[in-house]
Amino acid sequence: MTISDALIAANRARFAALDPRLPDPGHPPSSGETLVAATPDGRRVGGVVQVRTHPPGTLDLLWSAAQVWQLFPFIGDTGTEGMDALLRAWRHRMDAESPGPDSACTVTWPSRDAEAVRAFLDHGLIPISTLALRTAPPPGPPSREHTVRRAQPEDFEEVLALTEHTFDYTALVAYGRPEASELQAPQLERNLEAGAPIWLAEDDGVAVAVADCGWVNAAPGSWAAELLPPGTWGYVNNVGTEPRSRGRGAGQALMAVVHRAFHRMGATGTYLYYNPTNPLSSVFWPQQGYRPLWTYWEVRPASALR
Ligand SMILES: CC(C)(COP(=O)(O)OP(=O)(O)OC[C@H]1O[C@@H](n2cnc3c(N)ncnc32)[C@H](O)[C@@H]1OP(=O)(O)O)[C@@H](O)C(=O)NCCC(=O)NCCS
Repeated sequence: MTISDALIAANRARFAALDPRLPDPGHPPSSGETLVAATPDGRRVGGVVQVRTHPPGTLDLLWSAAQVWQLFPFIGDTGTEGMDALLRAWRHRMDAESPGPDSACTVTWPSRDAEAVRAFLDHGLIPISTLALRTAPPPGPPSREHTVRRAQPEDFEEVLALTEHTFDYTALVAYGRPEASELQAPQLERNLEAGAPIWLAEDDGVAVAVADCGWVNAAPGSWAAELLPPGTWGYVNNVGTEPRSRGRGAGQALMAVVHRAFHRMGATGTYLYYNPTNPLSSVFWPQQGYRPLWTYWEVRPASALR
């Protein structure tokens, strides 16, 4: 079973028409199992399913189930019907598996493909995360109520505590893990030691918000180039304000400094992930100038795919 060149070309045209900022979807992944299906009127679609297992202690577990079946669809211009046919074939294929409770079926798909949304919903997938970009020029000077400064290695405890508040909140509105802080701590400590771009907002000398960021280079052939337009991107990994200080401008002041700093350092733009189910971040990030590029559709456990 293979995915035809005509379907690959149609898929490429579909992505280009949907959103000019999407990278070329290219060819199906070289490893994995190929699925093929047809719409009721006989149009063929295909996809590749990869299975991944994240062992205990790995950082991927912060956002991912331990065992993941990921579908890479190639549906060309077949729209809702094509995606529906492919998801039916996937459901049928999953009958041969015995996924455990810590498992998921996932698809990463262009956010602007409205025709695919209904098919995902009909098969039990939910939009759990969004990759969003910001490429606008930085905003004017931030508010004077908060002091924003780069975090140093000696700020580790404060940075970790603020990060923990974010995990506590996202565990309410997405799939969190009780051990999130232990998973994150070693990397956070290393990043602070290495002088990574991490900022703190202070109110009267007390740290009330953190922006834990990094650099991602979307060079041709890299994993990042499959997700982002070419360039060097500021990656906004983890942002959180201490619960009692939320809604008082710390987040906005912090991000004004972060956006100006990345702009000054020559970043193409900044990007981040947020959960559409998070009532704070799903409003905050679009207000900060971010717009969705990819949506991460997911169903947990994997056996719940309909
Ligand atoms: C998202 C978050 C970082 C924003 O930081 P913040 O310091 O609250 O941000 P600001 O005060 O600058 O702006 C928050 C906006 O929400 C509004 N708001 C109203 N009530 C609020 C409340 N109880 N909590 C938070 N925001 C509130 C604010 O008025 C503001 O809107 P505006 O710009 O239209 O006035 C913060 O809410 C937070 O830590 N949330 C929990 C963790 C989280 O979701 N992190 C992001 C993961 S992607």
